[in-house]
This record gives sequence, C-alpha cells and structure tokens, in this order.
Amino acid sequence: MDFNQSADENLFDHARIIGKPHTRVDGALKVTGTAPYAYERHDVVENPLVGYPLGSSIAKGHITRMDATAARNAEGVAAVITTLDIDELPRAESNVAKLFGGDMIEHYHQAIAVVVADTLEQARAATSLIEVEYEEIPGEFDLDDAWKRLQDRDVVSHVGDVDAAFESAEITLDETYYTASQSHAMMEPHATIADWCDGKNMTLWTSNQMIEWTRQALATTFEIDADTIRLESPYIGGGFGGKLWLRADAVLAALGSRETGRPVKVALPRSFIFNNATHRSGTVQRLRIAANRDGRITAFDHAAISHTLPGGSGEDAVNQTRCFYAGENRRVAHHAIDMNLPESADMRAPGEASGLAALEIAMDEMAEKLGMDPVEFRILNDTQVNPEEPSKRYSDRHFVECLRKGAEGFNWSARNTTPGSKREGQWLIGQGMAGAYRGAPTLDSGARVRLSEGRLIVETDMTDIGTGSYTIIAQTAAETMGLEMDDVEVRLGNSAYPAASGSGGQMGAASSTAGVYAACVALQGEITKRLGVESARFESGQVVAGGKRVALRDVAQNEELVGEDTLHFGDFKDELEIGTFAAHFVEVAVHAYTGETRLRRTLSVVDAGRILNPVTARSQVIGGMTMATGAALTEGLNIDSQRGYFTNHDLAGYEIAVHADIPEQEVIFLDTQDGASTPLKAKGVGELGICGGAAAVANAMYNATGIRLRDYPMTLDRML
Ligand code: MOS
Repeated sequence: MDFNQSADENLFDHARIIGKPHTRVDGALKVTGTAPYAYERHDVVENPLVGYPLGSSIAKGHITRMDATAARNAEGVAAVITTLDIDELPRAESNVAKLFGGDMIEHYHQAIAVVVADTLEQARAATSLIEVEYEEIPGEFDLDDAWKRLQDRDVVSHVGDVDAAFESAEITLDETYYTASQSHAMMEPHATIADWCDGKNMTLWTSNQMIEWTRQALATTFEIDADTIRLESPYIGGGFGGKLWLRADAVLAALGSRETGRPVKVALPRSFIFNNATHRSGTVQRLRIAANRDGRITAFDHAAISHTLPGGSGEDAVNQTRCFYAGENRRVAHHAIDMNLPESADMRAPGEASGLAALEIAMDEMAEKLGMDPVEFRILNDTQVNPEEPSKRYSDRHFVECLRKGAEGFNWSARNTTPGSKREGQWLIGQGMAGAYRGAPTLDSGARVRLSEGRLIVETDMTDIGTGSYTIIAQTAAETMGLEMDDVEVRLGNSAYPAASGSGGQMGAASSTAGVYAACVALQGEITKRLGVESARFESGQVVAGGKRVALRDVAQNEELVGEDTLHFGDFKDELEIGTFAAHFVEVAVHAYTGETRLRRTLSVVDAGRILNPVTARSQVIGGMTMATGAALTEGLNIDSQRGYFTNHDLAGYEIAVHADIPEQEVIFLDTQDGASTPLKAKGVGELGICGGAAAVANAMYNATGIRLRDYPMTLDRML
C-alpha cells in the first residue's frame, strides 16, 4: 500500500480499540518472568555451551602475541577463539567499531577472544589464563581539549546573516554547555544464542531492535547469504539504541558455534558492555542567541562537537536548533571528532537529547535577560514553518498549546520568579520548564495477517523493546478487522516474518501499525473477493456486505486466509516538516547544605498526533523523562584520559535514575491527528520524553538556587 495524503481522511475516527487505554498484552509474561529472552531460550535450545568474551586492555595499538594454551587446557573448555585466529571480519555498513578478528585494536575492551565452555564460570575463569601482549599507540581521548583546539567551524547550514544580526542585536547570549557521554544501561544485556552447528544455516536467538538490518549485517560480516540466516528477537529488555546494531555477543556466539558444532550462548558482561558496545557521545556546545528587546529572536548560532571512532557520525547536537524556534538568521555547525574512545552511536533521541539539554537552558537564560516568562518567550518564538526553509510548513504543530496547557496544569503562574528565594526547611524549592522537539520519521513497514476460525495471527519482524509494540499492533489489527483484542495474536521479532520498520528513531509505533493496517486491508480484499462483493465493512466479528452479515469465523473455516503487504510512505512527506512536540514542567528541591537535588513533580504535555494507546504512550514519555532526569543529575561516563576508557563501567558507578529518584509524573496528550504522518495519523513518542527534560530539571535547579549550571550531569559537587 502506498500512503499518500489522499489516504482515508476519516479512518478510525470512531475507533473502538485504537486510542484506548489497553494494558500490555505481554504484561503477564513480563511480570511473571516467563517472557523468553534471548539468553534464556531453553524452550528451543538444549544445553548450549557458554561463551565469555575477553576485551582489549589498551585503547589503541596492536596485539603482538597471544597465548591461549592454558585456557584451552582448562577444565570444561570446548574452544578458545582469539582475534589472531581469524582475519578481521568485514564491517557491515551500520557497524563503525570493528567487531572481531586481526591484531589491530581501535578501542578499549574491543573483543579479542571468546572462551567457550560447559559453564559460565569455567569460561570466565579461562579468559584470565589468556596471555596477551600489546604494542600501544597513544590515543586521543579528551573532547574538551579537542574543542579548544578546534579552529574552523564546520557549518552545516547558514541562513541569513548571523554575524550582522549579532552585531545589531539588542540582547544576546553566548554560553558554552557540556553534556556527558552516556550509556544506554538497558536492563537486559546484549545477549545471543547462536546455532551455526553445520556451518551453513545460522539461527540466532538474540536481543536486537532491528531484525532485518542485523540479518544483513551478519551476512556482510560473515560473508554469507542472508537467506541462510534466521533471527529471533521476540522480547527485548530495553535497547535505547544500543541494540540497533550487530554487536560482539552475536558475532562471538556465532563463531563459537561454528567452531564447536554446538549451540553457544554469549551475554556481554555488564562491565564489558560500557566500553565494548556503543554509547552516546558527550558534547561541547557553544550557543549564541540574539533577540530584540521585545523578545523576538533574530539569530541562533550553535556549534557543537562530539567524538566518534573514524567513520562514525558522533552526536549531532545542533539539529533541533535548525527548526524548533523562529528567527531569520541561523547558523549551525557540527563536528564529529575522530577519537579513540569506544564507539559512540545512537542513544534515545540521538542528537536532540543532548542538543535540547543545551538549547533549552539557553532559552531559559535568554528569557531571564529579556525579563520575560520562559513560557511566553517560547510562545512568542513559535513557528509553523521550518525557519530555514519557510516554504516547508509543519504538518501539525501544537507546541504553543503544549506550553499553555502545561503552564495551566502545573500552576506555573504561581511560581516564585526570584531564583533562590523559596525555602522549605533546609530545601530550596524551584520550578523550571523546557520545550521538546523530536522529528517524526517513518520507515516502510510490512506485515502478514492470517485468519482462521475467526482468529487472527499477525506476523511482522517488528520488535518490542519494552515499548508496547505487541499491544498497539494487536489494537490496530483488531480495530481494522472488526475483531476483539482476544481474537488477535501478535508474533514479532522473527526474520521469517515480513520486514518491518523495527524499533528505532521513535519510528516504530507509527510505522509498524501502518504496515499492519496495510496487511489487514489486503486480507479484507481477500475476504471480499471470496464473498464476491466489491466492498464490505468489518465489525463485531462479522463482514457486512450488500445487506448481509457473515461471521469471520465462517468466512475462513478449515482454512486460512492470508493478507500480506508493506506500507510504503510517499514522497510528499519531503515537502513537509513532521515533528513531535512537548513542554516539560519540573519542580525540584535542592538541599541548601549538601547540594543534593530531588525531583518533586513533573508534567509533560505532548503533541504527537494520534495516541495509539495512552497507557503505553504514557510509559514512553515518563520513561524518557526518567532518563532525562538521569542525564540531568547523575548519568555520565567518566573517561580515563590516559588510557581511553570509561572508568564507571557498571550500574554502581554509572548511576541511572531509579524509582526512589522519581516522584509522581503526569502526562497530558493533546491527542491530535497528523494526516501527513501515517494512515492512522499517528506519530511516535518513544524519544520525545527525553528531549528537553534534562534542561527542565536544570532550569528548576537554577530557579531553586540562583546557581546556573551548564555542565551535565549536575552532580552535587557542581552545585556547591
Ligand atoms: Mo533509537 S536511539 O534509534 O533506538
């Protein structure tokens, strides 16, 4: 099905199931611990061997000698594969870091060996028996240093005349902001069981957000035909972008299985993930804003750097500054600096999460300079077109309504406007807010639906990374076919099913439900053909055509009717800006003597098209806000600037926000419809919550204390 703007305008206007608050269809499996995760596929794999990785202890250089004799002779060890045993594996397009093979070391904890043994303990113990000698080369590990040495600005876009605008501006701001490198720190580690026993057909039970990308990446890496590879990833304990790609767990498990002729399972140890897998790069950002005294912004000038391994793209922190607010003159520059730290890549709202962490503090600072309310300042500078390209209008943008509703819901007008002057005992109380923007891209997405005896099975290689895909897909199929939720079974995350968008870039919900809708329409076509009618309505478990009603149970009796299709998104979208928007409001208490910051309450008002399921969508938004709170207060990878690795590589040293850190969070959805986005008029919310959230916390901290921090995470030592 091709999606274009003339798609059914009234589709689902009177929906029974879509848009309604359904709890997760996989909820019972999750809370009873019975959802089969990759490492635990005892249901399909008997007695796998266990692989344990060894990582490089230098960041740059090469290996001069490895001796695995003692490891090979250790108890229970079935195989040891060292990186010197095989040639460097070809890198898939989506992989920047080298995954295995050869003597070159490009980052700390690059995988250099895997020990395969009967038990985890045996494998782990044997890795310590491998002798490794290196020739080390000094590396580049210091982003701040790179920023200071950076001479030319790599201008991404420049509209108007920014320099002239600053010269003639009445009010200006010029500040530098720092965001930290961050780890996805998902609950389930990267894990894979591989069966490549015959060296021909490979099956991987793995934890991965993008089935088809990863199948293709495996084909490239092992130089084999993609058709010989099968991937299953039905349940994923969080990804946040860290599992978009093929990683070492899958590669090592596959190599181990080919070598031993047995299934092999590998979970990356937590202490290994931080440096071996990807992370979000830290940024340094200089932001200048110019405005007239009336509050109208005349210019933005935003330059940022991040770090990357050669060939990567870093963290593009300037993207949102190109389009979020009005202003005739604007320039953004982005540098991804080649460094020798572990691979930086996408993490939830890559780019915007870091960029808005800076921009939305800068907006708060500008409002203060102008003597304006920060909400009113943003309202004044709203735009309905892309300010870089005014012919491109926003398909559906209600940011102003988010701001107004948020201010009202939070009782913003009652806030204390003099920073540092509201105290309750030893706690300073403050309120802050920030705007949020994130794009709403879509990817072509396919599905197959099978109807038999009135029951519908949906199959698509879409994944559910904890987001609720199972549930919204079941809702879409039930709604379209006129069935109930209980009549529908959803099967996901299997390369045997039609290729879907996968879960990434907050595209998954909007794209995959559109694909499922297309497949259901194909099935409807099959059914009407079968009944010899032109068209029909599908409701109450029946197909209604020409005044007759036939139960779907009777249409497909003792047989199966199948509909399969891929939703293709049309070019017309290129003419429009399609985005999602939110306003976050936060209240904090900062301890006057220790500098400890506690969140008190948050409100997010969200504009993201039709909300497919307010329960799962709310979880996404508060999850994003929770991550943003971590980004604001505690989350930061500490770099050993001599050795080039992250020193806090576990969940004790890398502190994410936990339940005790998070009070009541409220979310309001505007629940509009964006007909330019998908047939369901939906957009994603998976990444919007983390956008701007950190700045809302920072702005509240400023309001509480009068201390303006521009360096994340805003740990208490920075406050004192
Ligand atoms: Mo997302 S960072 O594209 O999983």
